[in-house]
Amino acid sequence: MAVIALKAPDIEVTVVDMNAARIAEWNSDQLPVYEPGLDEVVRATRGRNLRFTTDVEGGIREADIIFVAVNTPTKTYGIGAGRAADLRYIEAVARTISRVAVGPKIIVEKSTIPVKTSETIKDIFAANGVGGNFQVLSNPEFLAEGTAVADLFSPDRVLIGGERTPEGEKAVETLASVYARWVPRDRIITTNLWSAELSKLVANAFLAQRISSINSISALCEATGADVDEVSRAIGRDSRVGPKFLKASVGFGGSCFQKDILNLVYLCEKFGLGDVAAYWESVVKMNDWQKRRFAAQIIGSLYNTAADKRVAILGFAFKKDTNDTRESAAISICRDLLAEQAHVVVYDPRVPASLIHSDVLGAGKRDARLTVAQTPYEAAEGAHVVAIVTEWDEFRSLDYARIFALMAKPALFFDGRNIVDLAALRRIGFRVHGIGKPNDA
Ligand code: UGA
Repeated sequence: MAVIALKAPDIEVTVVDMNAARIAEWNSDQLPVYEPGLDEVVRATRGRNLRFTTDVEGGIREADIIFVAVNTPTKTYGIGAGRAADLRYIEAVARTISRVAVGPKIIVEKSTIPVKTSETIKDIFAANGVGGNFQVLSNPEFLAEGTAVADLFSPDRVLIGGERTPEGEKAVETLASVYARWVPRDRIITTNLWSAELSKLVANAFLAQRISSINSISALCEATGADVDEVSRAIGRDSRVGPKFLKASVGFGGSCFQKDILNLVYLCEKFGLGDVAAYWESVVKMNDWQKRRFAAQIIGSLYNTAADKRVAILGFAFKKDTNDTRESAAISICRDLLAEQAHVVVYDPRVPASLIHSDVLGAGKRDARLTVAQTPYEAAEGAHVVAIVTEWDEFRSLDYARIFALMAKPALFFDGRNIVDLAALRRIGFRVHGIGKPNDA
């Protein structure tokens, strides 16, 4: 919304949320989300044509276009638990809109939702006697965290799904004209509602599938002496494959990939497509395996005895340039190490210590074996293993000779992101281990 406000100064953008503390943060100098470039965008627009307020009903009443961006977490109870999306917030918003809004209005699904959610929204409108005045569009978001602002400035595509009726087409065109202020027209794709909803899940499933595919091959590389980065480069040069999203890792994290794939799996099962469901579920299973494999390799390198040994984890966010830790591989790696009674010391340049504790142990819990360091050097002090889990740029250029000197010997180094020069580390004296590399440890 901040980027829309920046690129379309003639449009008044109001962001509403029931959560007063969150809105207060958006109105302060300390934004609740760390994203490169976002501070500047908010600073340029807030108070001009961008407003943050808790007046949800007022915001709905005044708007011509309403973007629904509530969360759609995985259901934790009842039918579809662990897979299906919990749509209670979407439904609550639809009910609020039908209660307070007077049409005509365009309602845009921005949240990632299962296919046919717009049916639910439309049904609630119709049952409350306001259906005819509202057009429902699907406009899924494809930005990635850490590059959100750049992605929004220059998206590969904007996708808008709407009803194939004259009113639907008109609503699609209205929304397209908002994006067209900065996005070239040929990048604005319009489809029917179901295609747009499904494309969002499928896009994430395909991206995650590439990571699981290359991660599966990383294990084979370690077994055979091939180098996974060389394999990625070789296959990525085929223009039909393409070079992006072929970086082997400790496993993908983030709030979207796993959730969206499980959602797709649930959808397939619901429609009786068991084999299709199993195919996509294997992407998540491979990812879980890769995360466990990394922790198991660390434990193996400690002569299968991690108890009371110190393991330094560098990076906790699910990727660099974000403070988001949802589904981060670091969480399961830390848990596996703690289960072996290791002392785990985490360093992350952006993630607060309280979040690291609650992610690994549960809200409000503490364990003396889990600590958080202020610098990578503090983390490395006395450690038997230093493991990179998030690819923060600063880890590329640490003083590794100093880290080596601080560590217990043999000094084991695990690069879960393949970002450092392992040969150089080997020369310092480390026993090194990269993902999909010929390894010493
Ligand atoms: C992902 C998609 O890339 C976005 O297009 C989508 O809009 C977003 O989900 C969403 O649905 O909201 P995001 O999760 O923010 O974006 O970040 P990604 O860059 O996709 O990274 C996801 C995970 O995959 C990270 O843990 C990352 O480290 C890992 N990854 C990525 C790899 O392990 N290897 C790669 O080659 C690329």
